[in-house]
Amino acid sequence: MSSLTRIVHWSQHLACEVLQPGDFAIDLTAGRGKDSLALLKKVGQAGQVVAFDLQKAALEQTEGLLSEHGFAVHAWPISRPVPKQPGVFLVQACHSMLAALQLHAARAVVANLGYLPGGDKALVTRPHTTLEALQASLAVLAIGGRMVVTVYPVHPGGASEGQAVESFFSALPAKHWQVLSLRVANCPEAPFLMAAERLS
Ligand SMILES: C[S@@+](CC[C@H](N)C(=O)[O-])C[C@H]1O[C@@H](n2cnc3c(N)ncnc32)[C@H](O)[C@@H]1O
Repeated sequence: MSSLTRIVHWSQHLACEVLQPGDFAIDLTAGRGKDSLALLKKVGQAGQVVAFDLQKAALEQTEGLLSEHGFAVHAWPISRPVPKQPGVFLVQACHSMLAALQLHAARAVVANLGYLPGGDKALVTRPHTTLEALQASLAVLAIGGRMVVTVYPVHPGGASEGQAVESFFSALPAKHWQVLSLRVANCPEAPFLMAAERLS
């Protein structure tokens, strides 16, 4: 099947495009670990990824997938700063608490919003904490780095979260940020993405 309208494909592509071996990237919603794996494949064994999820079940799936691919996985508490060190650091906490980890500059941040596929649909990302996480992420994004957010407008609460995310990106000053919106033009209920690249 064509991947033209697979938004997750574009999300991974846009984030990975700016990554080099040894870079640092953040996954705000680990889920089953597929986005984290895509980031890790680009930053390689010398690179570092920090991935958040509220759910233990999600982090277990992520850990399984990343270990299978030979990456060093560390479970990390939100209460301790993350050292600059290769490997993947899995944090079971709300992504809005990102600043507590005192992260160094990241080249890419991804967030794939909504709920864990096959999991509890009530445990879904929420506009308020999503926006806090995006704001905190911008603060650690390196010049030339990108933040890419995928939104699911048909999830319960997804439409209002989508509007909040769109307003957040649209308000970024053009002097400092390039902002992209990518939609399936003939399918308004399809996921869409917003991406921002730091210019200065
Ligand atoms: C669509 S899934 C992510 C998919 C994932 N990136 C992948 O590649 O499989 C969304 C995830 O966000 C998590 N989540 C929801 N609210 C969260 C929050 N406030 N902080 C961190 N994770 C959250 C859910 O538990 C769920 O696993």
